[in-house]
Amino acid sequence: MTWGLYLHVPWCAMHCPYCGFYVEVERERAPWEAFADGLVAEVAWRKARHGFTGAPSTIYLGGGTPSRMPVQVLADLLARLETTDDAEITIEANPEDVSERWLRDAQAAGVNRVSLGVQTLDGSHAKRLGRAASVRQATEAMQRLGASTLRSWSSDLIFALPDQDLAALRADLEAMLAFNPPHVSIYGLTIEPDTGFERLQQQGRLTETDPDVWRSMYDTVVDVLGTAGIHRYEVSNFARPGHESAHNRLYWTDQPYLGAGPSAHGYGPDGTRWMNVADVHAYLSSGDPTLHEEPFEASRYASDLLIAGMRGVEGVPLAHLTARTGLAPDPTIIAQLTGAGLLRPHPHRLALSDQGFPISDAVVRALIESLGPTRP
Ligand SMILES: C[S@@+](CC[C@H](N)C(=O)[O-])C[C@H]1O[C@@H](n2cnc3c(N)ncnc32)[C@H](O)[C@@H]1O
Ligand code: SF4
Repeated sequence: MTWGLYLHVPWCAMHCPYCGFYVEVERERAPWEAFADGLVAEVAWRKARHGFTGAPSTIYLGGGTPSRMPVQVLADLLARLETTDDAEITIEANPEDVSERWLRDAQAAGVNRVSLGVQTLDGSHAKRLGRAASVRQATEAMQRLGASTLRSWSSDLIFALPDQDLAALRADLEAMLAFNPPHVSIYGLTIEPDTGFERLQQQGRLTETDPDVWRSMYDTVVDVLGTAGIHRYEVSNFARPGHESAHNRLYWTDQPYLGAGPSAHGYGPDGTRWMNVADVHAYLSSGDPTLHEEPFEASRYASDLLIAGMRGVEGVPLAHLTARTGLAPDPTIIAQLTGAGLLRPHPHRLALSDQGFPISDAVVRALIESLGPTRP
């Protein structure tokens, strides 16, 4: 069985005003050792509860800011977690944490991939995003990652920033490409509930990017990165050949993943999906941190498979969908979407075309709304 491990590490230096993830500002030293013990205990408990066997082939420490975890705690944590030989072990890092020493110690602890939160290399946009790191710290961190012996690394950006135009986006991408990242994750800014950006929007001080401009920006991203040899392998993830993230791939190829830590999501081999409580104190004081748990249910499973699976360029094999659920999208809708050039023509697979990717949400919605029992 192939599966991955996601560990949510919630602490950050500060709470960026656009971020809707579960984070805690680390005002005083976080209870790192107790937290690592909690993660190890949850992993063992969930493995047995949901039928994970063997060891994970990927570990992804996401956050929050996992690079704030003291490296000796990280080393001890990774030493206590089993993995397959040659597993991909990624940590999300904020630029201000990526010193030569941290990088060396993180690698000695077992990390072989770093996902760096660059977000933008434009000073005025970085300021508006409320980033703790300066543009200079971000470029120095990219230089260090590029010069390191890591297996791979990613530069994580956001586009459709407030008042960003196409020229500014292009300049941002080109500034980043000077550091030759082997992998790029780039998401369009979303205004998340209960964030500083949502309050600015309500006060009329921030407007979301117009959908047509958003689309031109996305096309620019695909074009500029593609020209640099960094190809799209998922809606928001781009890589040079051989640098695709094995962990990301699990999500859209329907492999199970064990999410541990506060607010983490998981998907077990038994088909169960869960979400943990988004509160580190409740997390540490409870033997069962589950907030919601849903057993396997065919129509929910089919929707989730389409939502996750259609993100990848390979799409979703129809036979897999129907074998697991007895459901399939209406063939007329598939034909219409294919005829409109939004799906690639393929007899056994649903996969977005280049024109389909920028409006993937609408295409996936149409497929989900048309789900019905397959004819015998
Ligand atoms: C939650 S952060 C964690 C990693 C790290 N702390 C950082 O700041 O980069 C992971 C990624 O989520 C993305 N992200 C967070 N909030 C977002 C938003 N409102 N819209 C789009 N992307 C967002 C950023 O691109 C970021 O790289
Ligand atoms: S974007 Fe990153 S650093 Fe900022 S609050 Fe979210 S997780 Fe923390």
